[in-house]
Amino acid sequence: MSERTLVLIKPDAVRRGLVGEILSRYERKGLAPVTLELRTIDGAMADAHYAEHVEKAFYPPLRDFVTSGPLVAAVLEGDQAVEVVRLLNGATDARKAAAGTVRGDLALSNRENLVHGSDSPESAAREIALWFPKLG
Ligand code: CMP
Repeated sequence: MSERTLVLIKPDAVRRGLVGEILSRYERKGLAPVTLELRTIDGAMADAHYAEHVEKAFYPPLRDFVTSGPLVAAVLEGDQAVEVVRLLNGATDARKAAAGTVRGDLALSNRENLVHGSDSPESAAREIALWFPKLG
């Protein structure tokens, strides 16, 4: 069933010139962009996006990282888009992500892991409403 998911191509990917490479992986798989925007977020937006992580020990440096420069926020659409994006992205810890995935092929960090994808259809609905209120 066609569904939508939120993807962030994080500041490390923008700095490293990997936006096109990463977007093309989603497109070649068959996912279509519904909307896509280069944006630099502040700490409040980071806190809202990562609400479930704000109390965790890894959060302060994660907050600094995601606010450190422009990122690309996108809504992608396609059959089982939430799960498909997570499979394409690979494991959160890029050091252990499988070859063939975005993180497995292109990153070597647990924090600077290039991409974010909504972890469930419920998270996708919340995150799309947060990032793109007109779509929510
Ligand atoms: P993401 O999929 O955006 O969801 C939460 C983010 O927190 C994750 O990708 C990583 O960027 C970061 N993260 C998760 N766990 C850790 C950790 N143990 N140490 C550092 N960063 C983490």
